Amino acid sequence: MANRLFRTKSIHDLMNEATDTHHGFKRVLTATNLTTLGIGAIIGAGIFVLTGQAAAQYAGPGIVLSFIISGLACAFAGLCYAEFASMIPIAGSAYTYAYATLGEFLAWIIGWDLILEYLFAASTVSVGWGGYVVSFLRDFGIFLPTNLTAATGTVLIDVPMHGWQQLTQYLNHSLIAQGINVESLPHVTSVINVPAMFIVAILTALLVIGIRESANFNNIMVITKVSVIILFIGVGIAFVKSANWHPFIPPNTGISGHFGWSGILRGAGVIFFAYIGFDAVSTAAQEAKNPQKHMPIGILGSLSISTVLYILVALILTGIVSYTELNVPDPMAVGVNAMGPGMFWLRPIVKLAAIAGLSSVILVMLLGQPRIFFSMAKDGLLPPVFSKVHPRFKTPYISTLLTGSVALVLAGILPISILGELVSIGTLLAFAIVCASILVLRRSKPDLPRPFRTPFVPVIPILGALICIIQMVSLPLDTWLRLVIWMAIGFIIYFTYGIRKSKLNKSIEANQQ
Ligand code: ALA
Repeated sequence: MANRLFRTKSIHDLMNEATDTHHGFKRVLTATNLTTLGIGAIIGAGIFVLTGQAAAQYAGPGIVLSFIISGLACAFAGLCYAEFASMIPIAGSAYTYAYATLGEFLAWIIGWDLILEYLFAASTVSVGWGGYVVSFLRDFGIFLPTNLTAATGTVLIDVPMHGWQQLTQYLNHSLIAQGINVESLPHVTSVINVPAMFIVAILTALLVIGIRESANFNNIMVITKVSVIILFIGVGIAFVKSANWHPFIPPNTGISGHFGWSGILRGAGVIFFAYIGFDAVSTAAQEAKNPQKHMPIGILGSLSISTVLYILVALILTGIVSYTELNVPDPMAVGVNAMGPGMFWLRPIVKLAAIAGLSSVILVMLLGQPRIFFSMAKDGLLPPVFSKVHPRFKTPYISTLLTGSVALVLAGILPISILGELVSIGTLLAFAIVCASILVLRRSKPDLPRPFRTPFVPVIPILGALICIIQMVSLPLDTWLRLVIWMAIGFIIYFTYGIRKSKLNKSIEANQQ
């Protein structure tokens, strides 16, 4: 039994699969497409939503350091991904890498875990998308029914002067401080999130139609969001008041994680979400024109560009406005407000960039997931229907539709607040396993051709895995509990289905007879 669980897929077979042109996909993606795909997946809710909250609650202007720390950890993992993606350019990403190094059982675990990253991230970010769309339309006098347009289960309060706002602990405190009785304000509880469902449905349809069409849409979204971020940085410099950066690291309040260095580390854990997505590039390996060469460019290029933009935005934002005012869902819009009435024209532009940014994140997450299912089904660990490619569109249409439908339900019907941390813990686990796998493969197959080599092995993979594990440990206990429950469901599916249908096991058994 143990032998069965830890059998690895031969690199030779994987190479054959990678070069096989009959898998049904179109090889159309260039290095630029892959880089924009990465930026598409990375820059989204993290910078447009979470930065302000992390600065206000944990790190102050030191959030810039949080971005550097988290970016460094992702760079280590990114270098390991780049080596694998250039060596085994198969759509399954970390799942395939684990299959080649750690065996089928761990590969299944990682494949199952990646659902937390891709599918759940798509749902989580689509809720952020809905929030920005509602707020954008409101600025133009278009009001959508509140109970149908927010994360399900959230309580929304009609705040004088500010319109409908989600009731958070922060808002509650600030209203009480203004002498306003929350109970006296009109409030509604959201029952369904129609905008979030809408965007998931539209993007799923686009992904079914074609990879080229999806990549083109992604390019437009990426150009929009990156241009506006550069505009924000360029214009913002003029409004920086250096007093806002003092103290750069506000003193710890006595509670671990509330400012001081522990706050910077906590901030790094929170904004780790902002970096999730560079690995999605590796799921498009079988649609890349020259994966060996271009995969590392896509992964590392998108990660570097996003990191630089993040650090600059964090620096400018905390320079324009005091970090204490940033505990809001739209911190960049608050930054624009602080620039004064002369700059109000930038407000809708920033919101539009956020909408574009979040759209591309959802798109690439919904693109990555079916391709991982595709590889798992090709190996027999999921039913064959998951690897069906549309005869005309050349996309894995059934798994795309399935992914989209589940993401749509999660986004529209379930309370979503718990999913964000699940996305982070799932992704950290995947990164840690990929870093560890590099060490295993360097020992077990030292002579394999590696078009890209992770530098400073074993230091970088060991540091990468360690930092991921430390970040996982710092997440709350209930997130761990959810991870364990999710994995237990995965075990049941593997032991009742995957292990019996595994093509690798079948071929080994056939050879033995
Ligand atoms: N990195 C992605 C975002 O920030 C998941 O939205």
